[in-house]
Amino acid sequence: MLAHASTALTPHGAGRFSYRVPARHLLGLEGMPQADLLGILEEAQFHREQLDRSGIAGRELESITVCNAFFESSTRTRVSFELAARRLGATCVSFSSTDSSTAKGETLLDTLRVIESMRVDLVVVRHSSSGAPAYLAKTLAAGVINAGDGQHEHPTQGLLDLLTLRQSWEGRFEGRRIALVGDIAHSRVARSAIHGLVTLGVQVVLAGPPTLIPQGVEALGVEVMESIDDALTGADAVMALRLQHERMDQGLLASLAEYARAWAINARRVRLMRPEALVLHPGPMNRGIEIAPDVADGERSVILAQVTNGVAVRCAVLRRCAQALTEAA
Ligand code: NCD
Repeated sequence: MLAHASTALTPHGAGRFSYRVPARHLLGLEGMPQADLLGILEEAQFHREQLDRSGIAGRELESITVCNAFFESSTRTRVSFELAARRLGATCVSFSSTDSSTAKGETLLDTLRVIESMRVDLVVVRHSSSGAPAYLAKTLAAGVINAGDGQHEHPTQGLLDLLTLRQSWEGRFEGRRIALVGDIAHSRVARSAIHGLVTLGVQVVLAGPPTLIPQGVEALGVEVMESIDDALTGADAVMALRLQHERMDQGLLASLAEYARAWAINARRVRLMRPEALVLHPGPMNRGIEIAPDVADGERSVILAQVTNGVAVRCAVLRRCAQALTEAA
């Protein structure tokens, strides 16, 4: 528990990074200043390099207790938050709604208050309701990290996407163009990516079935293109997005086969992009629907690099939030 050991975040290892606006919560990338985004990415790159040198890990968060509270299914996000917390020496526990008292009718706030009473410092929350982490952040003393809320935001996913692009683009975002293709309307991944990319000066083009493009999305600083081929031609990267059936009303799509024909990222479409262009996907993938298997496994794919970067980004985010808690203590 934080109050008993406040000296853990000393300037060794990642401790040399300090942020302009330390904050104990990370709720979204909307409105995050460019300098903060770049600061997190720089630290995340440091953690990525540590991760690649096996066996090296810090103890900087040994005074911190982290609870992953997942009220929606997850593989990579939950596991990578756990790995990141443990890499930095934090105590980390996880629970999901299916094996907790929420299944018996307890409210979200009551469940999280119970967790907090066990002296948890940081709560990592995934929930199907947009705004659930913001609501908890107003009420709990713990830091709250959004691990995906409804259709709203998934900030650590946005950061890991940016880190993956930064590695291939040698740190230069301005003047680059990326196409986000598929179910934009239901995608918190797309929303966080858009906020981060636009802040860093990347040109963002959206393409997908008109029923899955939110009205007025251009106000976020992106362009919507009717033709997927136009969106991809000359692009530096494409991000394929999963059809979020679980968040859809009926009747938004004719059929999966028709969707795949019209919108899947396949080898022909990859060739429309620049020769060194990257293919991203947040996972979980539906092979043969939004992405062709040979593209997912192909030489332009950075899908597994995204997953590795997820651990690095979550190390940086946990440390950032812990630093803010320590400073406030
Ligand atoms: C995404 C999510 O849950 O928002 N997955 C992830 O965290 N990598 C995307 C999705 O479910 O399609």
